[in-house]
Amino acid sequence: MIRPIALFDMAAQQALIRDRLDARIAAVLSSGRFINGPEVTELETRLAEFAGCGHAVGVSSGTDALQIAMMAEGIGRGDAVFLPAFTYTATAEVPLVLGATPVFCDVDPVTFNMDLDDLRRRIALVAAEGRLRPRAVVGVDLFGRPADWATIEAICAENGMFALDDAAQAFGGDIGGRRLGCFGGATPLSFYPTKTLGCYGDGGALLTQDGDRAALYRSLRTHGEGGGRYEVLRTGMNGRLDTIQAAILLCKMELFDGELAARARDAGWYTAHLGGTVALPKIIPGHAWGLYTIKLADGAARARMQDALRAAGIPFGVYYPKPLHHQPAYAAAHAQALVPPPPLPVSEALCHQVMSLPMHPYLEEQDVARVAAAVRAAA
Ligand SMILES: Cc1ncc(COP(=O)(O)O)c(C=O)c1O
Repeated sequence: MIRPIALFDMAAQQALIRDRLDARIAAVLSSGRFINGPEVTELETRLAEFAGCGHAVGVSSGTDALQIAMMAEGIGRGDAVFLPAFTYTATAEVPLVLGATPVFCDVDPVTFNMDLDDLRRRIALVAAEGRLRPRAVVGVDLFGRPADWATIEAICAENGMFALDDAAQAFGGDIGGRRLGCFGGATPLSFYPTKTLGCYGDGGALLTQDGDRAALYRSLRTHGEGGGRYEVLRTGMNGRLDTIQAAILLCKMELFDGELAARARDAGWYTAHLGGTVALPKIIPGHAWGLYTIKLADGAARARMQDALRAAGIPFGVYYPKPLHHQPAYAAAHAQALVPPPPLPVSEALCHQVMSLPMHPYLEEQDVARVAAAVRAAA
């Protein structure tokens, strides 16, 4: 029988740690401490140690991590928040929910991360127009590839803006050995099940090097509480990480280093088996390989590739089929942010060109060779 290939494989991982998961979950069931149990603190300590960032605060999702981080800065009406047009919806949704205006920036055609010359241009345009205050930049480490944090931090420092590292797809990645979590003012993580570190439901965390910010995040995730249990200091939200999810993540942390190495090994196999066919993501040190995304010449070439992979029984994903400024939910905000809105040609083109191939730590070289053979035949 041919070995099935999964786009993401959570079953293989679960089989390795099933006994520990059962024991950890049973301990939570016995303790009855489903909210803010000791596993949450234990996980926060592990995450902060792993990232080397000093502080980690468990929260209910990556989206809520973004929201808490922006609430802590007081981001709201009249503020412009700059972010890439080619990313997941949550990055843009949060500033809008808080009354701020997302300003979409184009991305680089090779790294798929924010084009920082375009970012500079748009900050200058917003400042010149004078209607909105340039307030924050959300850099996204798309598909696991760390963004150019030295430059984003410099741009934010020059313009008095807050830098937020949306590392939802990139936990475990690093730049020169410094892990994500240490860049910008704060780093939201997502533990959505298919992320590099995923739980069995929704979950997330905020990493930061700033103890005052971490304390504020703890308050905001619990309705703005402070001082005593029923003292409400500020408007917050219910944004806590469940104890059971923390227990699950603690089991998975034991595999995490090995899994990151396995993802990098997969990327190497793809390069070896696919070199010279289609545009492949560049192998760079510190890439977390949340997704493995290739780029085709145009929409027709991608449609042919999709048909070929479907026929061969190879799963794939398209992240993302539409740039955010074309989403009905964001079109009006985009039209009002800068008038007229400068074009976003790379983000628009990539939505017709990209597709993601199976990427997870439990692939074998024969799996990658099978995917590659199907890709080669259609390239
Ligand atoms: C770049 C990015 N930001 C934010 C999020 C939101 O994370 P969550 O689904 O945990 O709310 C995701 C999740 O897919 C994401 O990919």
